[in-house]
Order: sequence, then structure tokens, then C-alpha cells
Amino acid sequence: MNTHIIHVDRASSTQDVARGMTPHKLGTVVAADVQERGRGRRGHVWLSPRGGLYASIILRNDPLLSLRVGVAVVRALKHAGIVARLKWPNDVLVSEKKIAGILIEATGETAIVGIGVNISSTPLPEATCAAAETGVPITRDALLQLILREIAVNNDEDVIEVYRALCSTLGRRVRVGITEGRQVIGIALGIDRDGHLLVDDGKTTHTITAGDCVHLPAAV
Ligand code: BTN
Repeated sequence: MNTHIIHVDRASSTQDVARGMTPHKLGTVVAADVQERGRGRRGHVWLSPRGGLYASIILRNDPLLSLRVGVAVVRALKHAGIVARLKWPNDVLVSEKKIAGILIEATGETAIVGIGVNISSTPLPEATCAAAETGVPITRDALLQLILREIAVNNDEDVIEVYRALCSTLGRRVRVGITEGRQVIGIALGIDRDGHLLVDDGKTTHTITAGDCVHLPAAV
């Protein structure tokens, strides 16, 4: 994949800058120093002060893209000396603290893949950042290059196999909010070939296609 990076000082959201580009040239990357209205999955806000990595990449959509990008971010962090794992579907955590998030907005064959990584500071107390996790500082641009390289190389792999190995949700007791007011609590048994989470609540195994997953303490 040939990439072309466009840096802007400030954006409302890099997702919107990338979406506004015509044509949607695959491999175009929009990176901002600051986002004024950064957004996360499921309507959350993504706080985006100076010092973080905020980038949106135009890629070909595919059903496993979200898992694929999660794997790429974990591997890129590993190259930077940070051991991270994935909370289903694609929250990137270090010791259960969020270091990076991924937002995929797809229209037809094209996806705008938004990646936010806390690098020099932690916008929320329950999160972490690269500077806190490694003695070897990594710059935003170097980390972006590592992520782009990993996205390019993991395209041909059996992404589900790799994803399972990096996913800390498996085997955990979880609560998954599926829709407003509807949640499943149980043990995360597996990830199926479509990337869906299988949760056993003691009576049924639920196949969860999308939702907010929380890791719970083991039941006593
Ligand atoms: C999440 O974990 O909720 C996903 C966070 C995604 C944040 C990134 S930062 C770059 C891109 N622009 C946005 O507004 N959001 C994504």
C-alpha cells in the first residue's frame, strides 16, 4: 500500500477531513496535532490534546478490518517497546488501561480508519500513554510509520488467529452492552471466524456482533 500523509495542525476530526477528500484515494492518511471534536466508538468523545497521535487512513473496507487494524496497532506498539493487548473488538490496552482506540467509518467499499494513540500524556485517569509505558520515547510520526507498515503487512494473514492470540478478553468474565438497556454478562469463550465475540451466560452462548465490552473481575 502506498501511503500519502497529510499533516494538519488542527482539525475538528481527522475522520471528517479524510471523508471530505475527493476522490477517496486509498492510502491517504490525515494526521492532526490537535482535534477539537475527536470522536470515539459508539458516540464517545476522544479527547485529543497536543502530544497524541490522531490519524485517519483511507482503506478498502473489509469485514475484518477492525480486527486487522487492532492487530497492527498492537504490533506497532510492540516495536516501540510497549506490550499491549486487545479488548474486544479493538480497544488497545496496557495492563487494562487504554492506550489507543480505533474507529472505523465505512461507506460502501471505502473505510475511514481513525486511530488515536496517547503518546506523551493521558487525557483520562483510567488511561495510559506511551511515555508512561516505555523508557524509550517514541515520536508520533515514528509510531504512525510503524502502524502503517503493520497494516500493510498483515493483509494476507489469518487475522483471526493472530487476533485471538493478542486478545485479552478471551476467557474473561465480561459485560457487553449490545443496545441501550440490553447487556450480556458471562464468560468470553471465543471469537468466531467473522470476528464476533461468543459469550456464555450460563444458559446460552451469545454471538455478539457489536457492543461495548467491559472486563469484569472473576466471579467468586
Ligand atoms: C475509541 O476507542 O473509541 C476510538 C477512538 C478513535 C480516535 C481516533 S483519533 C483519529 C480519528 N479521528 C477521530 O475523531 N477519531 C479517530
